[in-house]
Amino acid sequence: MTTHEFPADTARRAPRTPSPRPAERTARVDLTGKTAFVSGAAGGIGRACALRLADAGASVRLADVDADALGALADRGVGEPVVLDLTDLDAAEEAARGCDIVVNNAGVQTVSPVQDFPPERFSFILRLMVESPFRLVRGALPHMYGRGWGRIVNISSVHGLRASAYKSAYVTAKHGLEGFSKVVALEGAPHGVTSNCVNPGYVRTALVEKQIADQAAAHGIPEERVVSEVLLARTPLKRLIEPEEVAELVAYLCGDDASYINGASLPVDGAWSAS
Ligand SMILES: NC(=O)c1ccc[n+]([C@@H]2O[C@H](COP(=O)([O-])OP(=O)(O)OC[C@H]3O[C@@H](n4cnc5c(N)ncnc54)[C@H](O)[C@@H]3O)[C@@H](O)[C@H]2O)c1
Repeated sequence: MTTHEFPADTARRAPRTPSPRPAERTARVDLTGKTAFVSGAAGGIGRACALRLADAGASVRLADVDADALGALADRGVGEPVVLDLTDLDAAEEAARGCDIVVNNAGVQTVSPVQDFPPERFSFILRLMVESPFRLVRGALPHMYGRGWGRIVNISSVHGLRASAYKSAYVTAKHGLEGFSKVVALEGAPHGVTSNCVNPGYVRTALVEKQIADQAAAHGIPEERVVSEVLLARTPLKRLIEPEEVAELVAYLCGDDASYINGASLPVDGAWSAS
């Protein structure tokens, strides 16, 4: 069994593709006056979302266990740090009260065959990646309903739509999040609240960098080959996704142009899920 919660200096050697300039991508999303809660905001996709939503004018609550990284973001004026273990479910629900936008992002990975998967780890992953989003949304919805406007964006995964071997807890959690998102979409619609999932393939973050290092060691091959031949074996576009690309879709879903996108699951996966 391997767990994936810590960064490793690996995937950055995979080829990079230039992304569009932010000014060209961001002009139309104005979140001035909105308060956004981003879980797992200290790194990876959550950090990119926090930066992007702040850039659109939102006041951002940056929730994570990593106090130092949150402090660095707050020092840049990105938002207000909320140092919190999101598996403390009562605290999570309280922390999201009064928010107009919730981005359910925090997540971890564990790779193990089912028969060896530690039961307590399986429970932890469901608590962090399904129960905590439920409690964050539960805390935020009364405010959203009161204002007649709200946005829930759930950072799911291709693994919310497809399975991979040895990722039982993660795939289970993401499929659960997909179901929860759709229920919130139905209940929220009459109140101006949308709920959607974003489904990335492999994104260049600590979570994936650790998997690349582990797979390189397990297969005895260079990390570049792990990216192209193992991680991206089912993906026609042979590159990792940048966190900012995911954040851009999240920002769009939070804007008024996306008010009719509800209950959807939107792949950002280079056509993996089309295969
Ligand atoms: N990286 C990918 O390829 C990829 C692909 C699809 C979906 N996702 C999803 O995107 C989300 C973010 O992934 P990432 O790659 O940016 O991961 P990451 O490891 O870079 O960041 C995750 C963040 O969550 C925080 N976190 C973890 N447990 C926490 C807890 N108990 N309480 C509070 N904060 C906690 C970590 O401190 C970290 O800052 C996850 O839900 C993941 O499943 C990632």
